[in-house]
Amino acid sequence: MYILGINAYHAGSSACLIQDGRLIAAAEEERFRRVKYWAGFPVEALRYCLAEAAIRLNDVDHVGISRNPSANLHKKVLFALRRRPSVHLIRQRLANMAAVRDVRKELCAQLGTDPHAFRAELHHVEHHRAHMASAFFVSPFAEAALLSVDGFGDFVSTMTGLGSGNRLQVLDTVNYPHSLGIVYTAVTQWLGFVNFGDEGKVQGLAAYGKPKYLEALRRIVRLKPRGRFELDLDYFVHWAEGVDMTWEGTSPRLGRIYSRKFIEKFGPPRHPGADITPHHANVAASLQACLEEAEFHIVRHLQAATGRTALCMAGGVALNSTFNGKVLLETAFQDIFIQPAAGDAGTALGAAYYVYHQVLGQPRAFVMNDAYTGPCFRNGTVESALGRRNLAYRTHALEEMPALVARLLAEGKIVGWFQGAMEWGPRALGNRSILADPRRGEMKEILNARIKHRETFRPFAPSVLAESTGEYFEQSYPDPFMLKVYNVRENRRAQIPAVTHVDGTGRLQTVAREQNPLYWQLIREFAERTGVPVVLNTSFNENEPIVCRPEEAVECFLRTRMDALAIGEYLVEKEG
Ligand SMILES: [Fe+2]
Repeated sequence: MYILGINAYHAGSSACLIQDGRLIAAAEEERFRRVKYWAGFPVEALRYCLAEAAIRLNDVDHVGISRNPSANLHKKVLFALRRRPSVHLIRQRLANMAAVRDVRKELCAQLGTDPHAFRAELHHVEHHRAHMASAFFVSPFAEAALLSVDGFGDFVSTMTGLGSGNRLQVLDTVNYPHSLGIVYTAVTQWLGFVNFGDEGKVQGLAAYGKPKYLEALRRIVRLKPRGRFELDLDYFVHWAEGVDMTWEGTSPRLGRIYSRKFIEKFGPPRHPGADITPHHANVAASLQACLEEAEFHIVRHLQAATGRTALCMAGGVALNSTFNGKVLLETAFQDIFIQPAAGDAGTALGAAYYVYHQVLGQPRAFVMNDAYTGPCFRNGTVESALGRRNLAYRTHALEEMPALVARLLAEGKIVGWFQGAMEWGPRALGNRSILADPRRGEMKEILNARIKHRETFRPFAPSVLAESTGEYFEQSYPDPFMLKVYNVRENRRAQIPAVTHVDGTGRLQTVAREQNPLYWQLIREFAERTGVPVVLNTSFNENEPIVCRPEEAVECFLRTRMDALAIGEYLVEKEG
């Protein structure tokens, strides 16, 4: 039985395919379109998924789409009637709802299938149910408490639930216009980071500030009994003016969310590109502290109410790795699972598994142990990508590559590492990565000057051998998906300065042999040379979506000042 999962017309357009409950393929449309967070219909991702299974759309039995225009409709209508939105806004929403409803037509048209031959049953899965399903149904847990937090989806910002075997149940929701994701995005905008998905930058900046404005933010995000919260809406405009979360065929953009009153309280917004002052860092730190306080409020209530010891999280806010890293330390939860595409892209996965388990009642059969669900390329494709740009290369048996690259890294070289199948989710996890030596304090500046051109306050991340995690970090609970920040042990910080943030933390990826044998081997070879079982791992890209195909890796390699490119069995080194 084949089930397609689709996230369309929302940020992070994506698709996945499962066969009898086993995940065959999953990918984000942005990687194919080469536009970050691309929103629209994920036709390229769908084509990839079908090709991976060597089937056609007609062979698919069910399609799950992670939007349900009818969900919470009465609440939407009531809210709209009270607020009198503009005719333009209503038109836009209706057009989008119609598109979501007409998935069958769109699928057949885009994939060139005769609608009469299309036999799959279509299922609309409410956005946050899809988020929760994405976390729980592929987790290793038979029982878990579930939490989904983001901006908005289907009129809801926060949903808690309980997962048990092949069922999940909703416990509570916080609805529009109250949303922690919206608060984080509003302050991110005020801080001058106006692109979709810039929230991670603020999390990095927060480490440089003091939470001086936590008290002020507590009056804006008010915690309520039973794990609930409410916003002081005077500080925001989304509820009055509407902030669209729906796009078609484009990179998502958001209008301004913070209000005049917010400016009166915190001062004028920072212009993008302007200097960052201590005031900005303090606001970022206060925001992070406020978010953590609110999330702990929700999570502790959820734990007490359910009595479960395992937690599954999803939603855009579940990408807040600083908070994620503290959950096991500061709550009664003992286990945690967040799948790699925790943001909206992951709802495609959730929609497919929701259909398989919740709708069809099938038993659990799959655990997402790694993130390598994307396209993989043959030697011939790599060779022609290199040949097209006349690149001189040497070939090596794949098992020799880790030692060769470890030597280059130890010599201070920056290496593009392109191997196997592309990652699912926003993190490069050792298959589409740029690697460097974490022992060199200057490496951060070098990487920024030569390749990444990121804001200097943003940290670079470590990949550590799973078995050595506890030697370098204060926690050792594995995270193969780089979604948690742990404290680097104090006595280790000077040893790995390029991946230790200003506050002594690192957003680590733990690498176990069974999850990625080649990458594990590389880090081990590096450890044998240097005594340090850690490498610096940043995504293989330069202000673009992470590279997907060999051609994109080659172009990025040539465009930037990377020293070497290890792509499959091919090693390219730049002269001098
Ligand atoms: Fe979402």
